[in-house]
Amino acid sequence: MIRTAVVSTGYYVPERVVTNKELTQWMDTSDEWIRQRSGIEERRWVSEGESNSDLAKEASTRALERAGLSPGDIDCVIVATLSPDHYFPGSGVFLQRKLGIDGVPCLDVRNQCTGFLYGLSVADAWIRAGVYRKILLVGTEVHSRGLEKSTAGRDTAVLFGDGAGAVILEPTDADRGVLSVHLHADGRHAEKLWIGAPGSFYNPWLVPEHIEQGLTRPQMEGREVFKHASVRMPEAVREALEANGLSLDDIAIVIPHQANLRITQALQKALGLPDEKVVSNIHKYGNTTAASIPIALHEALEEGRIKRGDLVCLTAFGSGFTWGSALIRW
Ligand SMILES: CC(C)(COP(=O)(O)OP(=O)(O)OC[C@H]1O[C@@H](n2cnc3c(N)ncnc32)[C@H](O)[C@@H]1OP(=O)(O)O)[C@@H](O)C(=O)NCCC(=O)NCCS
Repeated sequence: MIRTAVVSTGYYVPERVVTNKELTQWMDTSDEWIRQRSGIEERRWVSEGESNSDLAKEASTRALERAGLSPGDIDCVIVATLSPDHYFPGSGVFLQRKLGIDGVPCLDVRNQCTGFLYGLSVADAWIRAGVYRKILLVGTEVHSRGLEKSTAGRDTAVLFGDGAGAVILEPTDADRGVLSVHLHADGRHAEKLWIGAPGSFYNPWLVPEHIEQGLTRPQMEGREVFKHASVRMPEAVREALEANGLSLDDIAIVIPHQANLRITQALQKALGLPDEKVVSNIHKYGNTTAASIPIALHEALEEGRIKRGDLVCLTAFGSGFTWGSALIRW
């Protein structure tokens, strides 16, 4: 039986560290408020001249190097992001150009915090169907340029950070790899976490009023997001276990999307998991959306928290609302 194996990982975050204290120079907030509500201590922001596809390229290059591969070995690129370099085309082709692999297909995934899982699901299906053999899947975000860095935007500006994580996926006939990916969405909540403009819904699609109304920056109903995330993620983990005839005891480690420490703690509590089985790095990077799972996965591997044969569970929740889970036998 052919399954999809994660053969390498890599990540990159910009050098510039922005502490909670630094944010207080632009907005009415405090280190204490941010830590208490989100667990975030600092995040990274890009420097002038650094872009979404640049972060993706760095993360991809590191994943390729770890695997002893060159860009030319990749036969498909999938990029998950909500903050592409440009409105269109997506960041996939800019990453491809930077990697110098003209001709291979590039797919852009627009599923926000669940983007990495949606990308993984597509990649897994393609690999098992024999369509592609070496897929580069990247989650990459540059939030810092879209945040409202004043008191008006403080509810979201303090939460998000920049970064990219990449994985390389290949077929394997060994008894390991992706066991399942379960995906969900509920568009009834689309406006609860979104950037409304620019968009072709409006005519013309961007006018000064959109900026004045705050439609061009992230808008979020924080409590609603929190409420749904803390139910949907544990639900998705249980769904994955049930589909595979496995139990919570079989899981070696859960790598949740890093939305907020309190959401991760709610997930942990709902599943009754000990600290060592749940990965959290939000204190260092904030919410890096599509990049958060591959970054956390890479760090967990580097720290020796995942061993051959371990059952790894990924889960995410985010804008859409979208959510899901994946089980991987390492
Ligand atoms: C955003 C979040 C931390 C806010 O926490 P909360 O306890 O719900 O706080 P509220 O929104 O009720 O705001 C409480 C007060 O803090 C204020 N506040 C908001 N952001 C603030 C900030 N950065 N610094 C200081 N005060 C802030 C609010 O204006 C409000 O003031 P008021 O009581 O005078 O009106 C919380 O709702 C949350 O974690 N939601 C999930 C967010 C998330 O993870 N999103 C990404 C998912 S992919």
